[in-house]
Amino acid sequence: MEWIIFFNFTKKTHIMLSKNIEAALNKQIRIEAESSQTYLSMACWAEVHGLEGIAQFMYTQSDEERAHMLKLVKYVNERGGHAQITDLKAPKTSYSTFKEMFEALYNHEIFVSESINELVHITFEEKDYATHNFLQWYVAEQIEEEATAKSILDKINLIGDDKGGLYLFDRDIQQLTVQALSLLTQNKKVKVYLEYLKITLFFYICLC
Ligand code: FEO
Repeated sequence: MEWIIFFNFTKKTHIMLSKNIEAALNKQIRIEAESSQTYLSMACWAEVHGLEGIAQFMYTQSDEERAHMLKLVKYVNERGGHAQITDLKAPKTSYSTFKEMFEALYNHEIFVSESINELVHITFEEKDYATHNFLQWYVAEQIEEEATAKSILDKINLIGDDKGGLYLFDRDIQQLTVQALSLLTQNKKVKVYLEYLKITLFFYICLC
């Protein structure tokens, strides 16, 4: 019992989330988790239909959505709330065409953007400016994801039913995914290097 009390005293002391904001953030956690499952299901559909590039793109999207969910989970727990991990709505498992699948992806991203906007609105109403600020990352991310989905759909509309076009599209989207992952890794390496420099500088200042 004593150690629980001690632990509570050592917890960060910034303002806790209101119950309303906590519930709204938990709803978003669930949406991000369902997004991850939806794109994982799309990846499987593409893979079994021989669309390797599209499958790779969808696997990466699924991982990104999980990262979005985890970022929210950590935030809720660190602000004195309790992130709720619940059961999820089962995603659709098959599509008539890959165009239908990308239309579903685009519409899903619009739905997520609306949900984020609603969340931002609630934080504003409740004057929770810390959460309002935290959510700006999601606002920017959604603009980017909607734009990507829209530009992919535009390309698909250009291809139409052309099988050769589909082959090239699948190859191009694979290259794009590999390039994006490589950029991400490079950025992570730069961040690790900057952290290393910061620590070295700190010790240097302490020793001088
Ligand atoms: Fe995290 Fe694209 O929704």
